[in-house]
Amino acid sequence: RFEWYEKMRKASPITYNEEEKCWDIFLYEDIEAIIKNKEIFSSQRPVQQGEPNILSLDPPRHTQLRSLVSKAFTPRELNLWKPRIEQITENLIDDMKGKATFDLIKDLAYPLPVMVIADILGVPEEDMGDFKRWSDLLVAGPEDPTEEALQRLQKLRTQSITEMDTYFEEIIKYKRTHPKEDIISILIDAEIEGQKLTDGEIVSFCRLLLAAGNETTTNLIGNTMYGLLEEPSHYQELQQNPEYITLAIEEGLRYRSPVQALHRIAKEDKEIKGQNIRKGDSVTLWIGSANRDENKFENANHFIINRKPNPHLSFGKGIHFCLGAPLARMEGQIAFEQLTKKFSKICIPHNFELLPIQSAFVFGLKEFPLEGQ
Ligand code: HEM
Repeated sequence: RFEWYEKMRKASPITYNEEEKCWDIFLYEDIEAIIKNKEIFSSQRPVQQGEPNILSLDPPRHTQLRSLVSKAFTPRELNLWKPRIEQITENLIDDMKGKATFDLIKDLAYPLPVMVIADILGVPEEDMGDFKRWSDLLVAGPEDPTEEALQRLQKLRTQSITEMDTYFEEIIKYKRTHPKEDIISILIDAEIEGQKLTDGEIVSFCRLLLAAGNETTTNLIGNTMYGLLEEPSHYQELQQNPEYITLAIEEGLRYRSPVQALHRIAKEDKEIKGQNIRKGDSVTLWIGSANRDENKFENANHFIINRKPNPHLSFGKGIHFCLGAPLARMEGQIAFEQLTKKFSKICIPHNFELLPIQSAFVFGLKEFPLEGQ
């Protein structure tokens, strides 16, 4: 993948892909310019299922909704959640400590964000099983590439979305009369110029949080660890300099971005460096390539534990900049703080077999067995 990006950055950084019927963009400066140009490059999806969420809305509706939902992601809220995130992380890591080999993904990186988001949405403990099943199905790929497997998955997904929507509708109804300090209660209360969110909008937003925030955070933790362990001395360096953890996480994000590409649609004709993008064309922005662009990052193909500055595009940029970025960063920070404290050594086993997620857009490991002491 990274070789392909490099080849394309040199040979053909703005390419029309006949097969996919879309433009592929590879250079940092072009990607940044397109993301910023929200008037011409729209986030709306050609086929929309259900209530649109903020990710796929343009201004002015995007601006209104975003300012409402961002009330649930203020530094104050984040601080309220911190002790719970620490507790959840500690419990998961304590369970890992008893094993000769643990799986960083299954034992920590996967359950952590799901449990955290369930908690801050105010989902009761006993509903966690259902909750996990729904969030898995939202982001799952088909078991095999056949049409039947795809249809089976679609059916399961539609079913689980209906179940989940009904579930959240009931929770919202209940919380209207029994508010607590959780995201749903904040969203019920949020108001701008007399305007409140509808139940449908709140449900759609909850669904977006599950889809946008779980697998990405799992891969942030897995990919950062993978980057760190490429160089045997890195882990120790991190232990000796805990202030590097924040920087190492940013570098993990840059080096192996959990989201590799963003999508936009041109609302008007636009010429970029002699290439004519036409109204209606789809555009794929390879942020995973922008993050390795030598014009922007020195030694771009190296994981540098304390790289600074690090203007990677892994959380996007501009009006759609990831709303959950502070939360994801905090989860990563807490996970690595505790790992480096509790394991004096972590290494990749000799028989390690790399099992990447099969997807062009999501980047991460399905399993990550590790030996720890
Ligand atoms: C938007 C990545 C974690 C919620 C985005 C975008 C990216 C991204 C690239 C911009 C999409 C675009 O411009 O088209 C990531 C990564 C994460 C992460 C790499 C973890 C490492 C989270 C978490 C949450 C979240 C934990 C919430 C709990 C959202 C939302 C948006 C968004 C609501 C839409 C914002 C808008 O359209 O205004 N994310 N995300 N993300 N993310 Fe994240």
